Amino acid sequence: METPAQPIPPSHRPDTTSRHTLDMDPETFRALGHDLVDRIAGFLESLPRRRVTAAVSPGEVRDLLDAAAPLPETGRDPAQLLATTAHLLFDQSLHNGHPRFLGYITSSAAPMGMLAELLAASVNPNVGAWTLSPVASEIEAQTVRWTAELLGLDPGSGGLLVSGGNMANTVAFWAARVRAAGDAVRQTGSGVGGRMAVYVSAETHTWIQKAADLSGVGTDAIRWIPTGEDLCLDVDALRKAIDRDLEDGMVPMMVVGTAGSVSTGAVDDLPAIAAICRERDIWFHVDGAYGAPAAVLPDAPEPLHHLGLADSVAVDPHKWLYAPLEAGCVLVKDPESLRKAFAYHPPYYHFGVEATNFVDLGPQNSRGFRALKVWLALQQVGREGYLEMIADDVAMARLLHTRVEAHPEFEAHTLGLSISTFRYVPPELRGRVGEPDAEAYLNALNKALQARLEAGGEVFLSNAVVRGRYLLRGCVVNFRTGDDDVAAIPEIVAREGARVHAELRDP
Ligand SMILES: Cc1ncc(COP(=O)(O)O)c(C=O)c1O
Repeated sequence: METPAQPIPPSHRPDTTSRHTLDMDPETFRALGHDLVDRIAGFLESLPRRRVTAAVSPGEVRDLLDAAAPLPETGRDPAQLLATTAHLLFDQSLHNGHPRFLGYITSSAAPMGMLAELLAASVNPNVGAWTLSPVASEIEAQTVRWTAELLGLDPGSGGLLVSGGNMANTVAFWAARVRAAGDAVRQTGSGVGGRMAVYVSAETHTWIQKAADLSGVGTDAIRWIPTGEDLCLDVDALRKAIDRDLEDGMVPMMVVGTAGSVSTGAVDDLPAIAAICRERDIWFHVDGAYGAPAAVLPDAPEPLHHLGLADSVAVDPHKWLYAPLEAGCVLVKDPESLRKAFAYHPPYYHFGVEATNFVDLGPQNSRGFRALKVWLALQQVGREGYLEMIADDVAMARLLHTRVEAHPEFEAHTLGLSISTFRYVPPELRGRVGEPDAEAYLNALNKALQARLEAGGEVFLSNAVVRGRYLLRGCVVNFRTGDDDVAAIPEIVAREGARVHAELRDP
């Protein structure tokens, strides 16, 4: 006999306006959201009038936060919380969206990306498995394809979104390790451990050390190949280093070419490196975390038009594609190479294999929807928009370089992609450049000057050390930086340079 259907018990969920639930009724959500968006719009509009840095000490920030306060026992008013937090963040942050922020390689975040983050978190798909994120998984796959296309890679390339450049490069490193050592290395550990060798230029970013270390290959495996005058990898030295290792019975695992070095934007001779790798059957990886998007420029440095020769490319949408942090992307010529390096099939996951499950292609399990902000921005402006913004950034860096070259108190050094390096040289030291004590003083002066500029909040530059010289470094990955901003920089830096010099001379 059929049992009658049981009535569904009334919901005992508490009132959504209660301070004891994180749920929120639609009216409250709408009101809070509108208010927050208004505040953010006001913040964006105010950016050019703000200082780039807040110039506060860690102690002052902790005081503002009341950092030692205990965990709240009861809830607080969400409207009040959001308002005070927005205020805190707007007033006490370093603003990398400021038109005069030219530090490190952190871009202005596209407003579209900000909205995308809200939308992504609202639906909250877990992009580890297709079943858990049908649309999001397909959007990530399309983002990977479009990014590959933008960079001139084979449309059949595979890949995935990761947290940033370190992870994108590291994922490629792991794939190369399995390729060189064979599948068994995943079980036995280092495998041909102690005999692997990895070749990188002396300008390679520190991700390589972390990747070699964490993968068990070890940092001793890194062959730091010298660079030439142009700060690009010396291809002859690379060839010799590989052949020496082969004679010694080593296993060359990977060669890294850099497409836009972190310090000066140098682009290695990628076709020449690719040819060496092809001849010796070695995985060729390109670290294009910063520079790869410049491949979209018709007048890009020639090697950038050959990214497609690489087995893998790392590129950071949170750098030159202007996505808000975090968004890195690893692209591989053979999509299966990632599955071979990362996939496991535990009994508690039954995701099927008819569609891409990103959990199989990288180290993460649960994955957020990083792709959305990149996907929307790519569509908002298209290839033409990126071409224009990147070309403008390059033009701004050139303008900065031209201005410092023409200025009597500066010595211009390198110009690569959208990075200009230079240093302040007081007029009375001009004739002593190159003398060891003058060089030591100029290093100390420019280091102190960089700190002064940071604290001053008018402009933010970072630094590079090139051939032992401490240089100021302006890197433009910023669609808000205009001619006026760049034109103002030399005078600000010269004014502060003279002050710091006077203080160092007469402490
Ligand atoms: C060439 C290069 N590779 C890798 C990285 C690391 O990127 P991320 O900071 O996103 O991990 C950087 C960072 O500036 C870089 O310039």
